Amino acid sequence: MKIKYLDLPAQFKGNRRIRRVVQEILDSGQFVLGPAVEEFEQNFAELCGVKHAIGISSGTDALFLALKVLGIGSGDEVITVPNSFLATVGAIIQTGAFPRLVDVAEDYNIDIDKIEEAINEKTRAIVPVHLTGNPARIDEIGAIAKKHDLFVVADAAQAVDASINGKKVGSFGDLSAFSLHPLKNLNTCGDGGVITTDSDDYYQQLLLYRNHGLKNRNEARFFAYNCRLDSIKAAVANLQIQTIGEVTEKRNRNAVLYDEGLADLDRWVKIPPRRDGVRQSFHTYVVQVKDRNKLISFLKEKGVETKIHYPIPIHLMEAAKKYGYEKGDFPVAEAQADRIISLPIHQHLSDEQITYVTRIIRSFYKDKRFE
Ligand SMILES: Cc1ncc(COP(=O)(O)O)c(C=O)c1O
Repeated sequence: MKIKYLDLPAQFKGNRRIRRVVQEILDSGQFVLGPAVEEFEQNFAELCGVKHAIGISSGTDALFLALKVLGIGSGDEVITVPNSFLATVGAIIQTGAFPRLVDVAEDYNIDIDKIEEAINEKTRAIVPVHLTGNPARIDEIGAIAKKHDLFVVADAAQAVDASINGKKVGSFGDLSAFSLHPLKNLNTCGDGGVITTDSDDYYQQLLLYRNHGLKNRNEARFFAYNCRLDSIKAAVANLQIQTIGEVTEKRNRNAVLYDEGLADLDRWVKIPPRRDGVRQSFHTYVVQVKDRNKLISFLKEKGVETKIHYPIPIHLMEAAKKYGYEKGDFPVAEAQADRIISLPIHQHLSDEQITYVTRIIRSFYKDKRFE
């Protein structure tokens, strides 16, 4: 059996509605922003249970602009984690601020017990990442932010449609940034992003920030950026958003099948943590395993493709050298990076395929059972 980590063509293959909306945009001549983007923004705000959603050119730009609109820049510090996709730290650095990293907990999200020791007089914001589709401990983070008068900007790129006690990711903190990149659970045919907020003021400013600061065709209130969302991408995302509930259900069901199939291997395989009241939207199914690299090769031999999200913690990348971090600074994130593996979990997998993957993993550890 061949199991690909992702099957991106499957979602658009033979989909006549996608072809029709793309053709409509081509016929309309309205290629940037416009009615398709506005419709998508309304749908996305509704999905998240927030007042405003603003379509942006990418998830990275969404995070960058969310920080910019708060006035964050040179001389400021922003707290985040070392185990995210590098764009989280990249967006902070692009504002001119210093990324003050904090280790993660066993659930791969920011360790709430370590946040306060990272706060100093320069700290302006906390950027929790809802990694893997599992919401960070946002209540505790919100309480710390309130106590120290900090902003909370969530990196929600991996967690669309997740919720805590029925309240959706995207509705927590001051602003949240999402990605519509093809790899994401709710995606489009290229780069794209969204910012959500309940603030009318941030919303109005972000409309300017994403479009050169222009308040009308010829007059700019300030110099800004071109971070607009294309109409075709919004039109495609407008169709994708109609099925996001089913996509989440299917991916979460795949996660349960893995949980069940791997439960008794707990000496070698640590399944993803769950938390009461939290509905994850599994973007990745990350397990920590013994003999990780050998398992990856064994799965590959048997036709199963896997990934690692992410093999090198951000503070250990060449790009981060000048920020002064060293190996050993974030022991939990570093240890996890050596043990994690992401199993295929996409919505086009059948139950049989998930069972096949668990069977291969079981056979890999079979001989070890008596060690
Ligand atoms: C956690 C996280 N943050 C930020 C991003 C950046 O999003 P984009 O690729 O749309 O710029 C991604 C995805 O790539 C991500 O997974």
